[in-house]
Amino acid sequence: MKIKDNIETFNSLLKRRGFIWGPSPEIYGGLAGFYSYGPAGMALKNNILSIFRKELRAMGFGEVECPTIMPEIVWEASGHLERFIDPVLNCKKCNSVYRVDKFLKKVLPNQMIDGLSYKEMENLIRENNLTCPSCGSQFENIEEYNLMLETKVGTDTIVYLRPETATTTYLLFNRLDQVMRRQYPLKVFQYGKAYRNEISPRQGVLRMRSFDQFEIQMFISKKQEYNFEPFEEVKDNQLPLLDWKVQEENIEKPNLISLKDAIKIKILKKPAFAYCLFIAHYLTKKLGYSNNVIRYRQHSPNERAHYADDAWDLEIKTEQFDWVEICGIHDRTDYDLRRHAEFSNQSFEVAMDSDSQEKEIPQILETAFGNDRIIYTLLETTFMVEDGRINLQLNNFLAPNTVAVFPLVKNKEAIRNLALNLHQNLQNRLINSFYDESGSIGKRYRRQDELGTPFCVTIDYDSLEDDSATIRDRDSMDQIRVKISEIPELIKKKLEKSKI
Ligand code: GLY
Repeated sequence: MKIKDNIETFNSLLKRRGFIWGPSPEIYGGLAGFYSYGPAGMALKNNILSIFRKELRAMGFGEVECPTIMPEIVWEASGHLERFIDPVLNCKKCNSVYRVDKFLKKVLPNQMIDGLSYKEMENLIRENNLTCPSCGSQFENIEEYNLMLETKVGTDTIVYLRPETATTTYLLFNRLDQVMRRQYPLKVFQYGKAYRNEISPRQGVLRMRSFDQFEIQMFISKKQEYNFEPFEEVKDNQLPLLDWKVQEENIEKPNLISLKDAIKIKILKKPAFAYCLFIAHYLTKKLGYSNNVIRYRQHSPNERAHYADDAWDLEIKTEQFDWVEICGIHDRTDYDLRRHAEFSNQSFEVAMDSDSQEKEIPQILETAFGNDRIIYTLLETTFMVEDGRINLQLNNFLAPNTVAVFPLVKNKEAIRNLALNLHQNLQNRLINSFYDESGSIGKRYRRQDELGTPFCVTIDYDSLEDDSATIRDRDSMDQIRVKISEIPELIKKKLEKSKI
Protein backbone atom coordinates (compact mmCIF):
# COMPACT_ATOMS: atom_id res chain seq x y z
CA MET A 1 0.00 0.00 0.00
CA LYS A 2 1.31 3.42 -0.90
CA ILE A 3 1.19 6.60 1.15
CA LYS A 4 -2.35 7.65 0.21
CA ASP A 5 -4.00 5.95 3.19
CA ASN A 6 -1.06 6.57 5.49
CA ILE A 7 -0.28 10.27 5.27
CA GLU A 8 -0.45 10.74 9.04
CA THR A 9 1.88 7.78 9.58
CA PHE A 10 4.28 9.23 7.02
CA ASN A 11 4.27 12.70 8.56
CA SER A 12 4.90 11.29 12.01
CA LEU A 13 7.73 9.11 10.68
CA LEU A 14 9.57 12.22 9.43
CA LYS A 15 9.76 13.43 13.03
CA ARG A 16 9.97 10.09 14.83
CA ARG A 17 12.98 8.87 12.88
CA GLY A 18 14.86 12.19 12.90
CA PHE A 19 14.47 13.30 9.29
CA ILE A 20 12.76 16.69 9.68
CA TRP A 21 11.68 18.58 12.81
CA GLY A 22 9.68 21.72 13.14
CA PRO A 23 8.46 24.33 12.70
CA SER A 24 11.57 25.48 14.56
CA PRO A 25 12.21 26.35 17.32
CA GLU A 26 9.83 23.64 18.54
CA ILE A 27 10.31 24.31 22.27
CA TYR A 28 9.13 27.90 21.78
CA GLY A 29 6.11 27.01 19.67
CA GLY A 30 7.78 27.27 16.24
CA LEU A 31 7.91 29.94 13.56
CA ALA A 32 6.15 29.06 10.27
CA GLY A 33 8.47 28.30 7.38
CA PHE A 34 11.51 27.22 9.44
CA TYR A 35 12.57 23.59 9.88
CA SER A 36 15.53 21.61 11.23
CA TYR A 37 17.02 18.38 9.97
CA GLY A 38 17.80 15.56 12.37
CA PRO A 39 20.69 13.10 11.88
CA ALA A 40 18.75 10.95 9.38
CA GLY A 41 17.66 13.98 7.34
CA MET A 42 21.19 15.38 7.25
CA ALA A 43 22.67 12.03 6.25
CA LEU A 44 20.18 11.82 3.38
CA LYS A 45 20.87 15.42 2.37
CA ASN A 46 24.62 14.83 2.34
CA ASN A 47 24.27 11.62 0.32
CA ILE A 48 22.27 13.54 -2.31
CA LEU A 49 24.81 16.37 -2.34
CA SER A 50 27.67 13.98 -2.76
CA ILE A 51 26.03 12.40 -5.84
CA PHE A 52 25.26 15.79 -7.38
CA ARG A 53 28.77 17.12 -6.74
CA LYS A 54 30.45 14.01 -8.15
CA GLU A 55 28.28 13.94 -11.28
CA LEU A 56 28.70 17.67 -11.99
CA ARG A 57 32.45 17.63 -11.51
CA ALA A 58 32.56 14.75 -14.00
CA MET A 59 30.67 16.95 -16.49
CA GLY A 60 33.22 19.74 -16.06
CA PHE A 61 31.33 22.03 -13.66
CA GLY A 62 33.25 23.93 -10.95
CA GLU A 63 31.81 24.83 -7.54
CA VAL A 64 31.71 28.26 -5.88
CA GLU A 65 30.40 29.57 -2.59
CA CYS A 66 29.33 33.16 -1.88
CA PRO A 67 28.01 35.19 1.06
CA THR A 68 24.31 34.82 1.77
CA ILE A 69 23.94 38.56 2.44
CA MET A 70 24.41 41.17 -0.26
CA PRO A 71 24.04 44.97 -0.39
CA GLU A 72 20.97 46.68 -1.80
CA ILE A 73 22.62 47.59 -5.12
CA VAL A 74 22.98 43.90 -6.03
CA TRP A 75 19.22 43.35 -5.76
CA GLU A 76 18.46 46.61 -7.50
CA ALA A 77 20.59 45.43 -10.40
CA SER A 78 19.21 41.88 -10.41
CA GLY A 79 15.66 43.24 -10.50
CA HIS A 80 14.63 41.47 -7.29
CA LEU A 81 13.91 44.70 -5.40
CA GLU A 82 11.42 45.80 -7.99
CA ARG A 83 10.08 42.52 -9.30
CA PHE A 84 10.58 39.64 -6.87
CA ILE A 85 7.06 40.03 -5.60
CA ASP A 86 3.93 38.03 -4.90
CA PRO A 87 0.51 39.45 -5.60
CA VAL A 88 -1.49 39.50 -2.37
CA LEU A 89 -4.96 40.30 -1.10
CA ASN A 90 -4.71 42.30 2.09
CA CYS A 91 -7.97 42.37 4.06
CA LYS A 92 -8.29 45.93 5.32
CA LYS A 93 -10.70 44.90 8.08
CA CYS A 94 -8.97 41.95 9.81
CA ASN A 95 -5.44 42.33 8.33
CA SER A 96 -5.34 38.77 6.95
CA VAL A 97 -3.02 38.44 3.94
CA TYR A 98 -3.51 35.88 1.16
CA ARG A 99 -1.35 35.08 -1.84
CA VAL A 100 -3.85 35.65 -4.64
CA ASP A 101 -2.93 32.74 -6.93
CA LYS A 102 -2.95 30.22 -4.04
CA PHE A 103 -6.24 31.63 -2.71
CA LEU A 104 -7.91 31.44 -6.13
CA LYS A 105 -6.63 27.91 -6.81
CA LYS A 106 -8.14 26.78 -3.52
CA VAL A 107 -11.56 28.39 -3.90
CA LEU A 108 -11.89 27.91 -7.69
CA PRO A 109 -10.28 24.50 -8.24
CA ASN A 110 -11.59 24.14 -11.81
CA GLN A 111 -10.27 27.47 -12.98
CA MET A 112 -6.84 27.83 -14.67
CA ILE A 113 -5.04 30.41 -12.50
CA ASP A 114 -1.37 30.19 -13.56
CA GLY A 115 -0.59 32.88 -16.06
CA LEU A 116 -3.53 35.23 -15.30
CA SER A 117 -2.79 38.97 -15.09
CA TYR A 118 -3.66 40.95 -11.93
CA LYS A 119 -6.64 42.47 -13.74
CA GLU A 120 -7.92 39.02 -14.74
CA MET A 121 -7.58 37.76 -11.14
CA GLU A 122 -9.40 40.83 -9.78
CA ASN A 123 -12.19 40.18 -12.29
CA LEU A 124 -12.45 36.57 -11.07
CA ILE A 125 -12.75 37.78 -7.47
CA ARG A 126 -15.52 40.21 -8.42
CA GLU A 127 -17.42 37.79 -10.70
CA ASN A 128 -17.36 35.05 -8.04
CA ASN A 129 -18.11 37.44 -5.19
CA LEU A 130 -15.10 36.18 -3.22
CA THR A 131 -14.61 37.68 0.23
CA CYS A 132 -12.06 37.35 3.05
CA PRO A 133 -12.29 33.79 4.47
CA SER A 134 -11.51 35.12 7.98
CA CYS A 135 -14.03 37.96 8.33
CA GLY A 136 -16.16 37.95 5.17
CA SER A 137 -15.20 41.49 4.06
CA GLN A 138 -14.87 42.56 0.43
CA PHE A 139 -11.32 42.57 -0.89
CA GLU A 140 -9.85 45.71 -2.43
CA ASN A 141 -7.26 45.64 -5.22
CA ILE A 142 -4.36 43.20 -5.49
CA GLU A 143 -1.19 44.53 -3.84
CA GLU A 144 2.45 43.58 -4.32
CA TYR A 145 4.61 42.06 -1.55
CA ASN A 146 8.40 41.74 -1.87
CA LEU A 147 9.70 38.34 -0.81
CA MET A 148 13.20 39.41 0.21
CA LEU A 149 14.25 39.57 3.86
CA GLU A 150 15.85 42.86 4.76
CA THR A 151 18.32 43.49 7.58
CA LYS A 152 21.18 45.87 8.45
CA VAL A 153 24.92 45.42 8.71
CA GLY A 154 26.78 47.76 11.00
CA THR A 155 24.39 50.38 12.27
CA ASP A 156 22.71 51.60 9.12
CA THR A 157 23.62 49.76 5.91
CA ILE A 158 20.57 48.07 4.46
CA VAL A 159 21.27 44.60 3.07
CA TYR A 160 19.18 41.64 1.94
CA LEU A 161 19.44 37.92 2.57
CA ARG A 162 19.83 36.36 -0.86
CA PRO A 163 16.56 35.03 -2.33
CA GLU A 164 18.57 32.76 -4.68
CA THR A 165 22.19 31.59 -4.93
CA ALA A 166 22.22 32.33 -8.67
CA THR A 167 22.71 36.09 -8.49
CA THR A 168 25.66 35.69 -6.13
CA THR A 169 27.27 33.30 -8.64
CA TYR A 170 26.81 35.83 -11.47
CA LEU A 171 28.70 38.49 -9.48
CA LEU A 172 31.82 36.32 -9.87
CA PHE A 173 31.60 36.35 -13.66
CA ASN A 174 34.87 38.18 -14.48
CA ARG A 175 36.79 36.02 -11.97
CA LEU A 176 35.33 32.83 -13.46
CA ASP A 177 36.08 33.99 -16.99
CA GLN A 178 39.72 34.23 -15.98
CA VAL A 179 40.18 31.04 -13.91
CA MET A 180 38.19 28.88 -16.30
CA ARG A 181 40.49 30.07 -19.09
CA ARG A 182 37.71 31.55 -21.20
CA GLN A 183 36.53 28.09 -22.23
CA TYR A 184 32.88 28.65 -23.05
CA PRO A 185 30.40 27.62 -21.93
CA LEU A 186 31.67 28.38 -18.43
CA LYS A 187 30.09 25.75 -16.20
CA VAL A 188 29.64 26.41 -12.50
CA PHE A 189 27.34 25.58 -9.61
CA GLN A 190 26.65 26.79 -6.09
CA TYR A 191 25.02 25.04 -3.15
CA GLY A 192 23.77 26.97 -0.15
CA LYS A 193 21.04 28.74 1.77
CA ALA A 194 18.59 31.22 0.33
CA TYR A 195 15.80 33.09 2.12
CA ARG A 196 12.32 34.19 1.16
CA ASN A 197 9.75 35.92 3.33
CA GLU A 198 6.87 33.67 2.19
CA ILE A 199 3.38 34.85 3.07
CA SER A 200 1.87 32.45 5.63
CA PRO A 201 3.73 29.32 4.41
CA ARG A 202 1.55 26.28 4.94
CA GLN A 203 3.15 23.40 3.04
CA GLY A 204 5.76 22.31 5.58
CA VAL A 205 9.22 21.86 4.11
CA LEU A 206 7.98 22.68 0.61
CA ARG A 207 7.71 26.36 1.40
CA MET A 208 10.47 27.26 3.78
CA ARG A 209 11.63 30.78 4.51
CA SER A 210 15.21 29.54 4.89
CA PHE A 211 16.01 26.80 2.39
CA ASP A 212 18.72 25.09 0.37
CA GLN A 213 19.40 25.60 -3.32
CA PHE A 214 21.72 23.78 -5.66
CA GLU A 215 21.92 26.01 -8.71
CA ILE A 216 23.83 25.12 -11.85
CA GLN A 217 24.80 27.83 -14.34
CA MET A 218 26.16 27.88 -17.89
CA PHE A 219 27.57 31.15 -19.28
CA ILE A 220 27.33 30.65 -23.03
CA SER A 221 27.50 32.51 -26.34
CA LYS A 222 24.42 33.07 -28.52
CA LYS A 223 25.99 30.95 -31.24
CA GLN A 224 26.71 28.05 -28.86
CA GLU A 225 23.13 28.04 -27.58
CA TYR A 226 21.99 26.94 -31.05
CA ASN A 227 25.06 24.97 -32.03
CA PHE A 228 25.83 22.93 -28.91
CA GLU A 229 27.88 19.78 -29.44
CA PRO A 230 26.97 17.92 -26.20
CA PHE A 231 23.32 18.10 -27.31
CA GLU A 232 24.09 15.57 -30.06
CA GLU A 233 24.82 12.92 -27.42
CA VAL A 234 21.58 13.43 -25.51
CA LYS A 235 19.09 14.49 -28.19
CA ASP A 236 17.38 11.09 -28.43
CA ASN A 237 16.46 11.05 -24.74
CA GLN A 238 12.72 11.21 -24.28
CA LEU A 239 11.40 13.52 -21.58
CA PRO A 240 7.81 14.00 -20.31
CA LEU A 241 7.11 17.56 -21.47
CA LEU A 242 3.99 19.62 -20.81
CA ASP A 243 4.24 22.92 -22.66
CA TRP A 244 2.22 25.93 -21.55
CA LYS A 245 -0.09 26.00 -24.55
CA VAL A 246 -1.25 22.46 -23.79
CA GLN A 247 -1.88 23.43 -20.14
CA GLU A 248 -4.26 26.15 -21.31
CA GLU A 249 -6.50 23.31 -22.49
CA ASN A 250 -6.46 21.93 -18.91
CA ILE A 251 -4.29 18.96 -19.94
CA GLU A 252 -2.06 17.70 -17.11
CA LYS A 253 -0.50 14.67 -18.74
CA PRO A 254 2.89 15.28 -20.34
CA ASN A 255 3.97 14.06 -23.77
CA LEU A 256 6.94 11.75 -23.85
CA ILE A 257 9.02 13.36 -26.54
CA SER A 258 12.67 13.27 -27.59
CA LEU A 259 14.67 16.46 -27.15
CA LYS A 260 15.43 16.38 -30.86
CA ASP A 261 11.69 16.40 -31.69
CA ALA A 262 10.96 19.03 -29.04
CA ILE A 263 13.36 21.33 -30.89
CA LYS A 264 11.89 20.35 -34.25
CA ILE A 265 8.32 21.25 -33.25
CA LYS A 266 9.60 24.33 -31.40
CA ILE A 267 8.46 23.42 -27.87
CA LEU A 268 12.11 24.10 -27.05
CA LYS A 269 14.05 26.77 -28.92
CA LYS A 270 17.69 26.12 -28.09
CA PRO A 271 19.68 22.86 -28.03
CA ALA A 272 21.83 24.13 -25.13
CA PHE A 273 18.68 24.83 -23.10
CA ALA A 274 17.34 21.38 -24.01
CA TYR A 275 20.65 20.01 -22.68
CA CYS A 276 19.88 21.68 -19.30
CA LEU A 277 16.57 19.81 -19.20
CA PHE A 278 18.59 16.66 -19.83
CA ILE A 279 21.00 17.43 -16.95
CA ALA A 280 18.07 17.99 -14.56
CA HIS A 281 16.56 14.67 -15.63
CA TYR A 282 19.88 12.83 -15.41
CA LEU A 283 20.53 14.02 -11.85
CA THR A 284 16.95 13.34 -10.79
CA LYS A 285 17.10 9.79 -12.12
CA LYS A 286 20.41 9.24 -10.27
CA LEU A 287 18.42 9.60 -7.05
CA GLY A 288 16.11 6.75 -8.07
CA TYR A 289 12.79 8.48 -8.83
CA SER A 290 10.65 6.34 -11.10
CA ASN A 291 9.62 7.71 -14.49
CA ASN A 292 5.91 7.83 -13.67
CA VAL A 293 6.35 10.53 -10.99
CA ILE A 294 8.37 12.95 -13.16
CA ARG A 295 7.15 15.64 -15.54
CA TYR A 296 8.38 18.96 -16.93
CA ARG A 297 5.89 21.84 -16.86
CA GLN A 298 6.59 24.96 -18.88
CA HIS A 299 5.71 28.36 -17.40
CA SER A 300 3.32 30.55 -19.36
CA PRO A 301 4.73 33.98 -20.30
CA ASN A 302 2.82 35.57 -17.36
CA GLU A 303 4.11 33.03 -14.85
CA ARG A 304 7.83 33.38 -15.62
CA ALA A 305 10.24 35.08 -13.22
CA HIS A 306 11.31 38.55 -14.31
CA TYR A 307 14.69 37.29 -15.59
CA ALA A 308 13.43 34.34 -17.63
CA ASP A 309 12.74 34.13 -21.35
CA ASP A 310 11.75 30.46 -21.03
CA ALA A 311 11.18 28.41 -17.87
CA TRP A 312 10.36 24.76 -17.15
CA ASP A 313 9.75 23.14 -13.77
CA LEU A 314 10.79 19.55 -13.20
CA GLU A 315 7.97 18.30 -11.00
CA ILE A 316 7.43 15.18 -8.89
CA LYS A 317 3.98 13.72 -8.29
CA THR A 318 3.21 13.45 -4.58
CA GLU A 319 0.11 12.30 -2.72
CA GLN A 320 0.13 15.06 -0.15
CA PHE A 321 0.89 18.10 -2.34
CA ASP A 322 0.12 16.90 -5.89
CA TRP A 323 2.87 17.98 -8.38
CA VAL A 324 5.84 19.55 -6.60
CA GLU A 325 8.59 21.52 -8.35
CA ILE A 326 12.05 20.24 -7.38
CA CYS A 327 13.98 22.04 -10.11
CA GLY A 328 13.47 25.10 -12.30
CA ILE A 329 15.29 25.42 -15.62
CA HIS A 330 15.55 29.02 -16.82
CA ASP A 331 16.79 30.73 -19.93
CA ARG A 332 17.98 33.98 -18.32
CA THR A 333 19.41 35.37 -21.58
CA ASP A 334 22.03 38.11 -21.02
CA TYR A 335 19.61 39.82 -18.59
CA ASP A 336 21.67 39.34 -15.40
CA LEU A 337 25.11 40.21 -16.73
CA ARG A 338 23.76 43.17 -18.70
CA ARG A 339 22.13 44.59 -15.57
CA HIS A 340 25.19 43.97 -13.37
CA ALA A 341 27.46 45.55 -16.00
CA GLU A 342 25.23 48.61 -16.00
CA PHE A 343 24.98 48.96 -12.21
CA SER A 344 28.65 48.20 -11.47
CA ASN A 345 30.07 50.16 -14.42
CA GLN A 346 32.12 47.17 -15.49
CA SER A 347 32.29 45.56 -18.89
CA PHE A 348 31.21 41.94 -19.12
CA GLU A 349 31.65 41.73 -22.87
CA VAL A 350 34.04 38.95 -23.85
CA ALA A 351 35.15 37.19 -27.03
CA MET A 352 33.80 33.69 -26.46
CA ASP A 353 34.45 32.16 -29.82
CA SER A 354 38.11 31.29 -30.52
CA ASP A 355 37.55 31.91 -34.26
CA SER A 356 36.30 35.42 -33.83
CA GLN A 357 37.26 38.54 -31.91
CA GLU A 358 33.66 39.66 -31.68
CA LYS A 359 32.69 40.49 -28.12
CA GLU A 360 29.32 39.87 -26.48
CA ILE A 361 27.78 39.61 -23.02
CA PRO A 362 27.27 35.89 -22.25
CA GLN A 363 23.81 34.37 -22.04
CA ILE A 364 23.00 32.35 -18.91
CA LEU A 365 21.17 29.03 -18.75
CA GLU A 366 20.24 27.91 -15.25
CA THR A 367 19.21 24.58 -13.70
CA ALA A 368 18.08 25.31 -10.14
CA PHE A 369 17.33 22.50 -7.67
CA GLY A 370 15.60 23.00 -4.30
CA ASN A 371 17.17 20.39 -2.05
CA ASP A 372 14.54 20.40 0.69
CA ARG A 373 11.95 19.56 -1.91
CA ILE A 374 14.12 16.74 -3.22
CA ILE A 375 14.29 15.34 0.30
CA TYR A 376 10.55 15.58 0.90
CA THR A 377 9.57 14.05 -2.45
CA LEU A 378 12.17 11.28 -2.18
CA LEU A 379 10.88 10.32 1.25
CA GLU A 380 7.25 10.45 0.17
CA THR A 381 7.71 8.49 -3.06
CA THR A 382 9.77 5.74 -1.39
CA PHE A 383 7.50 5.35 1.65
CA MET A 384 5.66 2.00 1.51
CA VAL A 385 3.41 0.11 3.90
CA GLU A 386 3.32 -3.63 3.19
CA ASP A 387 1.20 -5.89 5.45
CA GLY A 388 1.44 -3.30 8.19
CA ARG A 389 5.23 -3.03 7.82
CA ILE A 390 6.59 0.45 7.03
CA ASN A 391 9.44 0.27 4.55
CA LEU A 392 11.31 3.27 3.20
CA GLN A 393 12.58 2.01 -0.14
CA LEU A 394 15.34 4.59 -0.57
CA ASN A 395 18.16 3.64 -2.87
CA ASN A 396 20.83 1.84 -0.87
CA PHE A 397 23.41 4.55 -1.38
CA LEU A 398 21.02 7.29 -0.21
CA ALA A 399 19.92 5.61 3.01
CA PRO A 400 21.13 7.40 6.19
CA ASN A 401 22.47 4.09 7.56
CA THR A 402 23.89 1.56 5.13
CA VAL A 403 23.92 -1.16 7.74
CA ALA A 404 22.67 -1.71 11.30
CA VAL A 405 24.33 -4.17 13.65
CA PHE A 406 22.41 -5.94 16.42
CA PRO A 407 23.48 -8.36 19.13
CA LEU A 408 20.56 -10.82 19.48
CA VAL A 409 20.75 -10.30 23.26
CA LYS A 410 22.59 -7.60 25.12
CA ASN A 411 23.32 -9.43 28.34
CA LYS A 412 25.66 -12.00 26.78
CA GLU A 413 29.03 -10.27 26.72
CA ALA A 414 30.62 -12.42 23.98
CA ILE A 415 27.74 -11.72 21.58
CA ARG A 416 27.74 -8.01 22.43
CA ASN A 417 31.50 -7.76 21.85
CA LEU A 418 31.28 -9.48 18.48
CA ALA A 419 28.55 -7.02 17.41
CA LEU A 420 30.44 -3.97 18.69
CA ASN A 421 33.61 -5.15 16.94
CA LEU A 422 31.81 -5.60 13.63
CA HIS A 423 30.16 -2.16 13.98
CA GLN A 424 33.58 -0.61 14.64
CA ASN A 425 35.10 -2.47 11.67
CA LEU A 426 32.37 -1.17 9.36
CA GLN A 427 32.86 2.38 10.61
CA ASN A 428 36.64 2.11 10.15
CA ARG A 429 35.97 1.32 6.50
CA LEU A 430 33.72 4.40 6.24
CA ILE A 431 30.57 2.31 5.87
CA ASN A 432 27.68 4.06 7.69
CA SER A 433 26.83 1.65 10.47
CA PHE A 434 24.36 2.02 13.34
CA TYR A 435 24.57 -0.13 16.48
CA ASP A 436 21.37 -0.96 18.36
CA GLU A 437 20.92 -3.34 21.29
CA SER A 438 17.66 -2.09 22.80
CA GLY A 439 14.24 -3.68 22.33
CA SER A 440 13.20 -6.92 20.66
CA ILE A 441 14.98 -7.93 17.46
CA GLY A 442 11.70 -7.46 15.56
CA LYS A 443 11.36 -3.87 16.80
CA ARG A 444 14.97 -3.16 15.88
CA TYR A 445 14.35 -4.37 12.31
CA ARG A 446 11.22 -2.18 12.08
CA ARG A 447 13.11 0.91 13.23
CA GLN A 448 15.71 0.41 10.51
CA ASP A 449 13.05 -0.33 7.86
CA GLU A 450 11.54 3.06 8.66
CA LEU A 451 14.93 4.69 8.08
CA GLY A 452 15.47 2.82 4.81
CA THR A 453 18.53 0.90 6.08
CA PRO A 454 19.19 -1.67 3.36
CA PHE A 455 21.06 -4.24 5.50
CA CYS A 456 20.72 -5.43 9.12
CA VAL A 457 23.26 -7.79 10.64
CA THR A 458 22.39 -9.89 13.69
CA ILE A 459 24.98 -11.61 15.85
CA ASP A 460 23.43 -14.61 17.63
CA TYR A 461 24.42 -17.63 19.72
CA ASP A 462 25.54 -19.56 16.61
CA SER A 463 27.94 -16.71 15.79
CA LEU A 464 30.01 -17.76 18.80
CA GLU A 465 30.43 -21.20 17.21
CA ASP A 466 30.70 -20.49 13.47
CA ASP A 467 32.03 -16.87 13.31
CA SER A 468 29.09 -16.07 11.05
CA ALA A 469 26.14 -13.70 11.26
CA THR A 470 22.81 -13.14 9.54
CA ILE A 471 22.39 -10.35 6.99
CA ARG A 472 18.78 -9.37 6.38
CA ASP A 473 17.72 -7.53 3.22
CA ARG A 474 15.30 -4.61 3.84
CA ASP A 475 13.01 -5.17 0.85
CA SER A 476 12.84 -8.96 0.49
CA MET A 477 13.47 -9.62 4.22
CA ASP A 478 15.57 -12.60 3.03
CA GLN A 479 18.34 -13.59 5.41
CA ILE A 480 21.70 -15.04 4.49
CA ARG A 481 24.46 -16.39 6.72
CA VAL A 482 27.92 -14.90 6.11
CA LYS A 483 31.35 -15.11 7.84
CA ILE A 484 31.63 -12.00 10.02
CA SER A 485 35.07 -11.15 8.63
CA GLU A 486 33.61 -11.03 5.09
CA ILE A 487 30.70 -8.73 5.93
CA PRO A 488 32.33 -5.29 5.38
CA GLU A 489 33.56 -6.27 1.90
CA LEU A 490 30.21 -7.84 0.99
CA ILE A 491 28.27 -4.72 2.07
CA LYS A 492 30.66 -2.53 0.07
CA LYS A 493 30.09 -4.66 -3.04
CA LYS A 494 26.30 -4.62 -2.62
CA LEU A 495 26.37 -0.85 -2.22
CA GLU A 496 28.49 -0.38 -5.34
CA LYS A 497 26.15 -2.67 -7.31
CA SER A 498 23.09 -0.65 -6.36
CA LYS A 499 24.45 2.59 -7.89
CA ILE A 500 22.41 3.84 -10.81
N1 GLY B 1 17.54 30.89 -9.23
C1 GLY B 1 16.27 30.49 -9.56
C2 GLY B 1 15.32 30.36 -8.46
O1 GLY B 1 15.66 30.75 -7.36
O2 GLY B 1 14.25 29.87 -8.61
